Parts: sequence; C-alpha cells; structure tokens
Amino acid sequence: MQKIIVIYHSRGGTTRRMAELVAEGARNYGVETDVRDAGSVEVDQLIDYSGVIIGSPVYYGSMAAEIKKLVDESVKLHGRLDGKVGAAFASSGNLAGGNESTILDILHVLLVHGMIIHGDPKGDHYGPVAVGNCDERAADECLRLGGRVAELVKKLAAGPSA
Ligand SMILES: Cc1cc2nc3c(=O)[nH]c(=O)nc-3n(C[C@H](O)[C@H](O)[C@H](O)COP(=O)(O)O)c2cc1C
Repeated sequence: MQKIIVIYHSRGGTTRRMAELVAEGARNYGVETDVRDAGSVEVDQLIDYSGVIIGSPVYYGSMAAEIKKLVDESVKLHGRLDGKVGAAFASSGNLAGGNESTILDILHVLLVHGMIIHGDPKGDHYGPVAVGNCDERAADECLRLGGRVAELVKKLAAGPSA
C-alpha cells in the first residue's frame, strides 16, 4: 500500500493550507496521504512512506528551523529513503522573497537522500509557491503537485511496464 506524507511548518496558516491542498491533490489520485506538522513527526516514520513532500515558510531566504531540525535528524535514515519520491513547496511574504531558493534548499536535501524529484514544465517548476496568502493560483499548484507526486508514486510501485 503506497502512502504519502506532507510535512509542513506554519505560524500564520498559509503553509498549512498549502499542505492540506497538496494532500487533497494526492488523495484525489487515490493515494492515502497524511499531513503532519514538522514538530509532530518522528523521523523514523518517514520509512513508512513512498512519497515525502515538505513545505516551509521562507525565513530569511531559506527553510524554517523547524524543517531544518527534522532534516538534520533524518541523517539516522541515511540511505534508507533512497528511491522514494520527494517534493517541496514554500510560502513567502514578498514576491521574489525567496520561495524558489527555499524549495531548492529542501530539494537538495531530498536529493542527497536519493529521492526522485519530479519537476514541472507547465506548473510552478520547482514546487508550488504562495506569496502573502494561498490564493487561487497557489491552491491550484498545490493540488497539481499532490496529484503529480501521487501519480509518480503509483507508477513506480507498478514497475517498469506501467
Ligand atoms: C523569521 C521570519 C523570516 C522571514 N523571512 C522572509 C523572507 O526572507 N522573505 C519573504 O518573502 N518573507 C519572509 N517572511 C515572511 C513569511 O515567509 C511569510 O509570511 C509566510 O507566508 C508565512 O507562512 P505561514 O503563514 O505558514 O507561517 C519571514 C517571516 C518570518 C517570521
């Protein structure tokens, strides 16, 4: 049984809303999906998931400390997340406030773990971004990301003939 986890940190609610929408997009594709605040995730739990999606508010151009803490704890799983699907999203206060650099910082971590990252040629290329709030455009991107990750998780589970 394939499962996805969407992990986020949020003080003001924007990134949490994005996480809920990403999860909704994945569930729409028929993949069971959990949504968890980073502070409530035990790093060992990541082993149970085929897809790991991480969302952060932009704090000084990069991920929140709460997300970085979980990332650093994940060293104990080094090598065991190899081949899972990874993705990221971010929310900022300002346009050009660091959304893409934050997403890429998270994706770098997931790549070091050996995870598979699906870029997007038509939507937000590196992952969904929200500026100020999760408006309709950002919401659509979040649903889209969840769907694409779920689709890829299912394809990988089905094997090379799918
Ligand atoms: C410590 C801190 C640092 C921030 N740094 C940036 C920044 O570099 N660029 C930016 O656009 N917004 C920055 N912001 C604004 C947040 O990224 C933005 O309000 C975000 O949407 C908050 O997400 P949340 O509602 O999920 O908490 C910062 C906010 C805080 C609290």
